Amino acid sequence: MATHTPQLHAVDAPGEQITAEAQRAADDARLGWERFQELIEQDKRVEPRDWMPNNYRKTLVRQVSQHAHSEIIGMQPEGNWITRAPSLKRKAVLMAKVQDEAGHGLYLYSAAETLGTSRDQMYQQLYTGQAKYSSIFNYPARTWADIGAIGWLVDGAAITNQVPLCRASYGPYGRAMVRICKEESFHQRQGWEILYTLSHGTEEQKQMAQNAVDRFYGPALQMFGPPDDESPNSQQSMAWKIKRFSNDDLRQRFVDMIVPQAEALGLTLPDPDLKWNQKRGHYDYGDLDWEEFFSVVKGTGPLSHQRLAHYRAARDDGAWVREAAAAYAAKQAEADRGSALLRA
Ligand code: 3HC
Repeated sequence: MATHTPQLHAVDAPGEQITAEAQRAADDARLGWERFQELIEQDKRVEPRDWMPNNYRKTLVRQVSQHAHSEIIGMQPEGNWITRAPSLKRKAVLMAKVQDEAGHGLYLYSAAETLGTSRDQMYQQLYTGQAKYSSIFNYPARTWADIGAIGWLVDGAAITNQVPLCRASYGPYGRAMVRICKEESFHQRQGWEILYTLSHGTEEQKQMAQNAVDRFYGPALQMFGPPDDESPNSQQSMAWKIKRFSNDDLRQRFVDMIVPQAEALGLTLPDPDLKWNQKRGHYDYGDLDWEEFFSVVKGTGPLSHQRLAHYRAARDDGAWVREAAAAYAAKQAEADRGSALLRA
């Protein structure tokens, strides 16, 4: 008697056969992976619609959202000086700079959103203290000279770090960086000009400028991240051409840039080990306080608590505006639906 061989269903023989849709998904992922590898190898842009490995997406959401948070929190130290600027011109320039930083944050949140993470999720991560932002902003801006040091050193470090990011493999991030870098160069120039004015002013003004550079030099060098051998993300980020250079390479590039600039300012950089190394073709510089760095990253910075409290208060104070805007948009959508029905 012919035995009836039941139609083998995919699940009947686990490991021997898979369902057609699972096969299709596996093929798509393989093709996606090959395409992704090709884009990276050929130095082409990966766009939001392209298949990408989950870890690539995760790394980008991590870095781009932290970058955006840094721009937003970075508005605080300088925002505090808008009402204290020494002249109308300085006030106008500083207002323009702080507004630029808000815009940088928005470009970067938009770039991160293309990876599937909502703005609200990112805001919430910052609000709860879960998200990182650049440790430099947990230091106080004590004097007007600090605003000069922030522009020259902090925005200068940002440019050194971010010009290569204009070529980041992820399209929306690299493109956002182009405009950001153009504006950062104005930020650096205005900072340098503040310090130049002070360092060529009265003895007291020169000392104020020197004190500001003394306080911001070390933390600014740490904006490039921990030393390469303590950077868990760099290697993979560089393999994916998100990062183009290592933390130490960019830090070195920055030191080489600021030494002659400090000389032109008539100020000294607070680093006795700073010395031109003919053999290396770079400046040697002294050890940085990485214990302090990692402690500040963990939230023990001089103003870490205040920065977050200020951000939370701003979010809470602005909640009614967001609710009103959302209610208006919902009402408008309902009215549009109504009129569409009438027209149908
Ligand atoms: N402050 C706080 N955390 C830092 C940090 C810093 N300066 N540098 C590194 N970290 C954190 C990293 O986020 C990472 O933690 P995570 O894995 O939990 O995210 C950890 O320390 C190890 O660092 P890695 O070097 O392995 O991490 P990355 O590969 O992400 O490199 C980075 C760090 C160089 C900051 C890189 O993320 C980057 O280039 N980001 C884009 C540039 C940026 O964020 N700049 C902010 C400057 S502020 C600014 O631009 C505002 C302007 O107006 C001045």
